[in-house]
Amino acid sequence: MHLSLKPSSQWTACVALLSGLTCLIAPTAAVKYENFKTCDQTGFCKRNRAYADHAGQVGASFESPYRIEPDSLSWEQGQLRGTILKTIDAAGETVRLPITISFLESGSARVVVDEEKRQKGEIELRHDSMARKERYNEVESLVIIGGLSLSLTAKEERDVGKTTVKYGPNGKFAAIVKFSPFSIDFARDGATQVKLNDRGLLNMEHWRPKIEKAEPEQKEGEELPAEVQTGEDESTWWDETFGGNTDSKPRGPESIALDITFPGYDHVYGIPEHAGPLSLKQTRGGSGNHADPYRLYNADVFEYIMDSPMTLYGSIPFMQAHKKDSTVGVFWLNAAETWIDIIKEKEAHNPLSLGLGSKMDTKTHWFSESGLLDVFIFLGPTPKDITKAYGELTGFSQLPQEFSITYHQCRWNYNTDEDVKDVDRKMTKYQIPYDVIWLDIEYTDDKKYFTWDPLTFPDPIGMLKQLDESERKLVAIIDPHIKKKDGYHIVDELTKKDLAVHNKEGNAYEGWCWPGSSYWVDCFNPAAIEWWKTLFQYTAFKGSAENVFIWNDMNEPSVFNGPETTMPKDNLHHGNWEHRDVHNINGMTFHNATYQALLSRKKGELRRPFILTRSYYAGSQRLGAMWTGDNQASWDHLAASFPMILNNGIAGYPFAGADVGGFFGNPEKDLLTRWYQAGAFYPFYRGHAHIDTRRREPYLAGEPYTGIITRALRLRYALLPTWYTAFHQASVDGTPIIRPHYFEYPSDEQGFAVDDQFFVGSTGLLAHPVVTEGAESVEMYLPDDELYFDYFDYTLYSGKGKHTISAPLDKIPLLMQGGHIFPRKDRPRRSSGLMRFDPYTLVIVLGKVGMAKGELYVDDGDSFEYEQGAYIHRTFEFSNNVLESKNIATKGKLTDKFLKTMKDVAVERIILVGIPASWTGKSTLKGGVEIECHAAEGPTAAWATVKKPGVKVVEDWRIDFNSLSHVRDEI
Ligand code: GLC
Repeated sequence: MHLSLKPSSQWTACVALLSGLTCLIAPTAAVKYENFKTCDQTGFCKRNRAYADHAGQVGASFESPYRIEPDSLSWEQGQLRGTILKTIDAAGETVRLPITISFLESGSARVVVDEEKRQKGEIELRHDSMARKERYNEVESLVIIGGLSLSLTAKEERDVGKTTVKYGPNGKFAAIVKFSPFSIDFARDGATQVKLNDRGLLNMEHWRPKIEKAEPEQKEGEELPAEVQTGEDESTWWDETFGGNTDSKPRGPESIALDITFPGYDHVYGIPEHAGPLSLKQTRGGSGNHADPYRLYNADVFEYIMDSPMTLYGSIPFMQAHKKDSTVGVFWLNAAETWIDIIKEKEAHNPLSLGLGSKMDTKTHWFSESGLLDVFIFLGPTPKDITKAYGELTGFSQLPQEFSITYHQCRWNYNTDEDVKDVDRKMTKYQIPYDVIWLDIEYTDDKKYFTWDPLTFPDPIGMLKQLDESERKLVAIIDPHIKKKDGYHIVDELTKKDLAVHNKEGNAYEGWCWPGSSYWVDCFNPAAIEWWKTLFQYTAFKGSAENVFIWNDMNEPSVFNGPETTMPKDNLHHGNWEHRDVHNINGMTFHNATYQALLSRKKGELRRPFILTRSYYAGSQRLGAMWTGDNQASWDHLAASFPMILNNGIAGYPFAGADVGGFFGNPEKDLLTRWYQAGAFYPFYRGHAHIDTRRREPYLAGEPYTGIITRALRLRYALLPTWYTAFHQASVDGTPIIRPHYFEYPSDEQGFAVDDQFFVGSTGLLAHPVVTEGAESVEMYLPDDELYFDYFDYTLYSGKGKHTISAPLDKIPLLMQGGHIFPRKDRPRRSSGLMRFDPYTLVIVLGKVGMAKGELYVDDGDSFEYEQGAYIHRTFEFSNNVLESKNIATKGKLTDKFLKTMKDVAVERIILVGIPASWTGKSTLKGGVEIECHAAEGPTAAWATVKKPGVKVVEDWRIDFNSLSHVRDEI
């Protein structure tokens, strides 16, 4: 063991290593605040907040210096183009800012503002910088994959002082563009929903040459100079130092900012990744509020804290605002460091708003360090409309490998190939299902990716073969830092081909990460992607095989000795874009390169890649799963995981999970058990642990824990067809896999802030995993008067509002809402691959009116053949006492071939919950099918089972239960 090279707490320990101190620093349970900037320590954040404060102080007489030049406006096919003039001094000098407002066929609108001087390259860079002069304008090409067709029906009506564009479905949306000061109001059905620059906080820091002048001094007891108060604090315009690193800022100040107001909206959600509630908090201080804005600057924030607007590993600058029966959204397409302030104020101009129950305006203020101002506006009106419109632009969630939505067994590290085989055997012996075992960084030869440690992993192929006997897989970690080591062929190629990220001088940037001194592959460079692809070929990555998939970590990128544990902002990427411009998208480009690589491992092999990423941006949902990074084995981290995953889901990235058991620390057995129960409801379900923690494979917990954990895992496996159907739906329309209340019940105000329970897909399964120590029950909120049945014992709950659900350690609070049908596979197996041809169980949960509906989607779970029709898609409907299965798939070239492989797969059991009291005893239905009915008992609802109904999953069929209504009379 290379103990000294296994720092227990990332960069702190590595810095210790560097300075010659001991590396064995035990993890402490607190974020290192001093490693990360606050708004006050971030020049452009402070400047834009100061600008907002100034506007607030001046009040009504504050006038935004931005106006549209009416004569500059032109309208063509759904697009309004013109120039905004920014007045920059008392003499009236202006800066020209070209603006394009696009009205899209989908009903979304887009506003883009650039800066003419930078666009034309008419600026000077300082320090002989090689950086590009333009504002970064390539984020669109990496993020947006469709949905940009312009509306042919949008109409512009020019007026004095403003112009109005009617667009959207039936022309019911309108954008009212006011010229001076510039602002845009977006309305739906005549009511304003989103306002841009209503508070006048639009700020595009234009290019200017540096004029040397004395620093303003602040003497004790004296006021700050006026320019500081009005946002013209120049102290951070030209360079900025933090934690001993100086950012040379060759282009000077260039931030962009805009206020976006949602009038009458109480709640805003989204803008992951933060550890905090689903409904975002206010950020300008006050009781219970945050004091700093929500920050988006992907970083390796280790041992992160709860309920904080601090940045984490990923960012999606997409927000939904919600009020009763209306949801709207904005997507801020900018990859630079971004902060978002949120305040809520009593609704303006509404005399009724003063009393009890009055509505709020949610006012947001967005600022990014550089780049274009590029914002999309979605007018809903439902949350589903918003996620769909957003997905049309950035892509829907990948339809994953089916195995990847089952249970993953990971830890840092499984030490040898024998160790892996031993865990695999033990999971089998204890009859604990799992699909994937993971290898963390120690499998490599000295942290050189694409190699195996010859002493500890002498026979990777033998190991993979054993896993394959149970159709199990291996995920191996490959990080973006490449060890700088003579003779390491990967680093030789990287440098020879000049594919690494450059420092500001234009040489390969060198920093520290797990391997010590390293370079970083620059995946903005198409040539780097081409090269990366070659490395994953089975012939190149020796010891890998068809059942190996990949984990991309540290791709923020994490640089142990870099500013805020990442790269200097003045580093240069392909095309000489500064790292500053692209930082938040860096992780996604690496994930994308690996995705492309897995598609080309072998000629003719076309399988869906599975890649887990830690860092992400809008669009990463197309490439695989994410997890919430280095959490802790504590109850508050367990509780925080659901709001985090829910927020990710409504921001278009639902394939999300948290380390089960907690990464740092050793969970008590009840915490571990509760975490496995909770994890059974994470879209991505993986147990993981830090290298310094004790082993915690489920069979080690002992009874009753191992048994309870095994049941949680089996529950996940039994519901696999249901989960896969939900993943399929997410892949075609962007609906989250686990869904918050507001999403399913947009009219129910009591549910808008609920984030400790959620629905699974559209199945009516409502889960509220226990996340508090010692809890024996939970309060579950029912959003309507439907019937709800306990999943395990069919206890009936009904009545809108809170209900106490008993939840001893062996129980997961899980209800089935009446009116739904969902599929299961109940035979316990070692892995999902072995369940492929297992028969189905259908659960029919009868609602108040005795009806129920559901869906099933099935394909080979591995290839892209579903794109050519190789899948089953059915609806099940129970009404008028008849259960029917109907095909809703569209036939394609490969449909028949696929159906043939599935032709013998039967429905082996139908369970009906909430049956009428008149159905009793055992009887035979028409067609000879037997049913056994159980009467209601105390709080338990009546239910029935049909064993061997004699129907196949690929066929249309109907089962008539009408004869049962007469059973009682006949007896
Ligand atoms: C990072 C990851 C963690 C992993 C470790 C070693 O801390 O977040 O999951 O185990 O690196 O690779």
